[in-house]
Amino acid sequence: MLEQINLLREKGQNELKSLTSTDQLPDWYHQYLGRKGDLTSFLKQLGTLSAEERPAVGKIINEVKQEFQQSFDLRQETLRESKLHEELEIDDLDVTLPGRPCTTGHLHLTTQTLRRIYQIFQEMGFQVYEAPEVETDEYNFQLLNIPEYHPARDMWDTFWVDDEVVLRTHTSPGQIWAMREYYPDPIRVILPGKCYRYEQITPRSEHQFYQVEGLTIGKNIRLTDLIGVMTEFAHKMYGEDRKVRIRGSYFPFTEPSIEIDMSCSCKDKADSGSGGCRLCKYTGWLEVAGAGMVHPVVLRNGGYDPEEWSGFAFGMGVERPALLKHNIDDIRYFYGNDLRFLQQF
Ligand code: PHE
Repeated sequence: MLEQINLLREKGQNELKSLTSTDQLPDWYHQYLGRKGDLTSFLKQLGTLSAEERPAVGKIINEVKQEFQQSFDLRQETLRESKLHEELEIDDLDVTLPGRPCTTGHLHLTTQTLRRIYQIFQEMGFQVYEAPEVETDEYNFQLLNIPEYHPARDMWDTFWVDDEVVLRTHTSPGQIWAMREYYPDPIRVILPGKCYRYEQITPRSEHQFYQVEGLTIGKNIRLTDLIGVMTEFAHKMYGEDRKVRIRGSYFPFTEPSIEIDMSCSCKDKADSGSGGCRLCKYTGWLEVAGAGMVHPVVLRNGGYDPEEWSGFAFGMGVERPALLKHNIDDIRYFYGNDLRFLQQF
């Protein structure tokens, strides 16, 4: 009987090896390992053996059974794999491959910054007002108290579409739009949007960029209101520990005009003369916005009587603060469409 079992062992293994398709596997299994298979019938014959022979033969049968099971599993695996490969070669659709995950986008750093700014001003009662990006000379300059001959025009290098039409160089023309729409109501708006300047592109300046303008019109609005609002903004945007500094400045559409600076995070070091950083050019102060009280001429151009009404306006960049916040050293990354940059924020 032992001899027969060994023959079966060899035959089974050889046949298993010669199988070429998974379809043939069940037959082999029935024949060798099935309930009515060869090994089972050997087991049944154990009873015919003498008591001395029985344990050794039983042991062998069990060994062979285990061996067959292992070989079967292995063969099954191999045949399945080669079947898959074949199918892949015929048509290259592999339904068992995991799907490619969709890359989900996210908001651009500029949009994120804008939304944070909206949120802060919204808490102070400001509404968002949108004005055109393509403007006339009249709105971009003249109505803002910058007549044609005025040297202040040099402050804005302008893209001229023709003699009359310009790409707005700042969001300030939106002041006129808002006033003409809201008169005779009080106003509290921010005007976000893209601006354009005919400038050399450098790490610090782009020819297109975002600004957020602010405008309030009401009775008895004063410079201290402006300073209060901007201080609150600086604290919310950059942290309660920021200090705000006011410098006198000049804009044709505000009187008086100021420049608003905010303390840099390196201010203590810069003050003690022991350091500072490149961002603030070692001064300890960062420029946040140009601002001032709306000029009487501008109020009148918007329809409001300067004897009765007053207001403040400010204008700030959007990329620059984001640049400062994230220590980015080149503004050109913002619109360079390089995902390696964009995905970091
Ligand atoms: N429009 C000015 C600029 O672009 C900024 C500004 C806005 C200044 C409003 C004062 C008031 O430089």
